[in-house]
Amino acid sequence: MINAGIVTVSYIAATILFILALGGLANPETARRGNWYGVAGMTIALLATFFGVVTGNYTALLIALLIGGSIGLILAKRIQMTQMPELVAMLHSLVGLAAVLVGFASFMDPSVHLAGVDLTIHDIETYIGILIGAITLSGSVIAFGKLSGRIGGSPLTLPGRHWFNLALLLGAIWFGREFVLQSAAGGGMTPLLIMTGIALLFGIHMVMAIGGADMPVVVSMLNSYSGWAAAATGFMLNNDLLIVTGALVGSSGAILSYIMCRAMNRKFLAVIAGGFGTGGGKSVASGDIEGEVVPIDAQETAALLANAKEVMIIPGYGMAVAQAQHVVNEIAATLRARNINVRFGIHPVAGRMPGHMNVLLAEARVPYDIVFEMDEVNSDFPDVDVSMVIGANDIVNPSAQTDPDSPIAGMPVLEVWKGHTTIVLKRSMATGYAGVQNPLFFKENTRMLFGDAKETLDEVFKAL
Ligand code: TAP
Repeated sequence: MINAGIVTVSYIAATILFILALGGLANPETARRGNWYGVAGMTIALLATFFGVVTGNYTALLIALLIGGSIGLILAKRIQMTQMPELVAMLHSLVGLAAVLVGFASFMDPSVHLAGVDLTIHDIETYIGILIGAITLSGSVIAFGKLSGRIGGSPLTLPGRHWFNLALLLGAIWFGREFVLQSAAGGGMTPLLIMTGIALLFGIHMVMAIGGADMPVVVSMLNSYSGWAAAATGFMLNNDLLIVTGALVGSSGAILSYIMCRAMNRKFLAVIAGGFGTGGGKSVASGDIEGEVVPIDAQETAALLANAKEVMIIPGYGMAVAQAQHVVNEIAATLRARNINVRFGIHPVAGRMPGHMNVLLAEARVPYDIVFEMDEVNSDFPDVDVSMVIGANDIVNPSAQTDPDSPIAGMPVLEVWKGHTTIVLKRSMATGYAGVQNPLFFKENTRMLFGDAKETLDEVFKAL
């Protein structure tokens, strides 16, 4: 057992390392270092807790660490890059579950003898911790289902759903009051259990009501909730490090949600209230779109690229599925060696998680200075000779600007159709995540290169 002073110092060191980790993750060049800061901080925190805070039951603790650590390791090794968002949603649910379990344990702990104001404060901490934890738990399980395709993407729009939410909120407040009163008299388990049920129901309903294209906001929002759940657990356990770390995760998740909302041109409260997304509007059938689809082959694509001066590459979810990032990098390098200006335009919600495309391009060693955010390049398309859209769909859909009934109406998109020629790489005419047809594919200056992006790009590279 180490003394309390060393534990405090270790906790401060871990906090600083976590802040440095967040700072590092803000930029692809420093992200790897940021990860290591995080690993170091977590190791210090675990050691300090193990040797300084825990007082017994070491065998149970070691077994739990071993089981948890092994599951984490196996999952991380097995998981495909495209399944990452589901994994993150699943991990959030575990944070929620931990907060609920710790909350009940702390409520039932026979060694806690509080009275008066202290008891009330502890009860409120417990109540809020379980409340946020249960919402995070059930919401994340539903998000996992939606992201992995096990649950349909359409928003569930129950009649009077806002009243239903309001009733759940009022119920949670009412049972909170009951809990504090009954706990002072030695009881309280019944209102606590009822509130847990209400919170679980609220989490399910909240995420079920959010449609396909708005899922990015849900993922970052649950990320934020899991932080607040951890912070609430920190209050229950009187653990400063957990409070600080939870608050860091909670606030960074909230900022990310804000950024995601801005990227989707949505109001945060409107997304939470639900109803946006796939089923919310009518999706355009391909028969309603004017123009025809013009296919192109790999040789012609290579010729178009080789004769261009300005090339813009727009990666999307399909590049991740095809794992085409390495050949994309080789093609970009070949073109650049021929003095062609190649840039990458990254939409903020391209792929299935924040920064998805940046991670893939960094992995393939695409130079950071040719990778641009959407806003930095969107006005440049009239000067672009060839835009190559690799497995992207919703993020280049002009109907977001022209069709007010579209589920993605108002979402900013990359305006590739304003360039000279657009080549779209995908396997079929299937829709993207939001489930809407894309008029871009039918435009006069669009050519479709059908097939798996990795296979077709291999051919393009050979032809180049
Ligand atoms: P999507 O709109 O989902 O389009 C991806 C396209 O890739 C599909 O149309 C698919 O067409 C094609 N594709 C799939 N596998 C392929 C392969 N092996 N080779 C070539 N093409 C392939 O993706 P996006 O444009 O990146 O837009 C992202 C969407 O996901 C948005 O609606 C966004 O709201 C949503 N979303 C984003 C996030 C975050 S945080 N980024 C999280 C959840 C949801 P084929 O089937 O015809 O090949």
